[in-house]
Amino acid sequence: MAVRYRKELDSISPYVPGKPIDDVKRELGLERVIKLASNENPFGFSDAVRDAVMKALEEVNLYPDGNATLLKEKIAAKYGVTPDMVLPTCGSDEMVDLIAKTFIDQGSEVVMAEVTFPRYISTSRMMGADLKIVPMKDMAYDLEGFKKVITPNTRLVWLCNPNNPTGTFFTRDQLVDIMEHISPETLVVYDEAYYEFASHPDYPKDSLDFLKKYRNMLVMKTLSKAYGIAGLRIGFTIGDATVLGLINRIRNPFNVTLITQAAAMAAIDDDDFLVKVIENNNAGKRYLYEQFEKLGLQYVKTEANHIAFNAGKDGTVVFNELLKKGVIIRPIGGEKYKTWLRVSIGTMEENQEFIKALREVL
Ligand SMILES: Cc1ncc(COP(=O)(O)O)c(C=O)c1O
Repeated sequence: MAVRYRKELDSISPYVPGKPIDDVKRELGLERVIKLASNENPFGFSDAVRDAVMKALEEVNLYPDGNATLLKEKIAAKYGVTPDMVLPTCGSDEMVDLIAKTFIDQGSEVVMAEVTFPRYISTSRMMGADLKIVPMKDMAYDLEGFKKVITPNTRLVWLCNPNNPTGTFFTRDQLVDIMEHISPETLVVYDEAYYEFASHPDYPKDSLDFLKKYRNMLVMKTLSKAYGIAGLRIGFTIGDATVLGLINRIRNPFNVTLITQAAAMAAIDDDDFLVKVIENNNAGKRYLYEQFEKLGLQYVKTEANHIAFNAGKDGTVVFNELLKKGVIIRPIGGEKYKTWLRVSIGTMEENQEFIKALREVL
């Protein structure tokens, strides 16, 4: 007889992460493999992080500070908020999970885009949400479409800007417009994991100012992307202290490790590293645009560190053929976007290897 479990799990598949390099090397007998599949930082991480980690190692016999007091203070000072408006988590992944558990009841209306960060859908389903999924418009969020399905009864709206996996963004005016449309009793989760890469003049760089007016908004950030410490697992969310206090009731007491807290404090200070990362990302972006044009492939202009493109052939086939050549990227998935894939912008050498392999595959 099989054990009983929650019926919601029947609609959830396990998250499929970008394939690890070592697995591909082993499975395909390859010596060199490059991974442009998880929007990681190809330029490494700040030297200050290395020093902080080495120092913190001396203290791992102790539990971390469960309140992450110093880290909260540092983040608060950097972003001009108070420490009680900051909640660090084990990656923003953990925050997505905690938000779903805190705010979604069985049958709660939850609104999200059709092609966006997949953890929104799985965590919402896990809690038994009544999901309203808004189709994309030209591969971007259709916020007018969101407005049509959002009601005063909506419990939660997931917004990702710039969006993963399409790299598209919506403007400051659009953000104002949607926030004005949403009831103050509806939680809006505004995920800006790729904020640092966005440079379009209409992109809402002042998203944190919105918190003064909209107490129902949480701004989610991560150090996994531009700051390059994905392996240490650290994200943080900024918002109303009372709203964060609800989430804090169910947070694991030591969710951010002692090493990670130290590393995050160092990473967040290193502006020079960040500038280098963004410059390299922009150069990679220009190169890949040029190459997609030469190949006659449709692609989407990005404000992030990844580009969605249409290979014109089954995306899974292209993905597997690229794997054989030692290049890991990611199909976007779904029947409607069958021929679309996402490539993370790598170092120039990696970008060139990817294009060479792609040309051969196509
Ligand atoms: C939009 C978005 N949000 C959140 C995350 C999770 O980031 P992390 O858990 O590494 O902070 C990712 C990772 O790819 C992402 O693309």
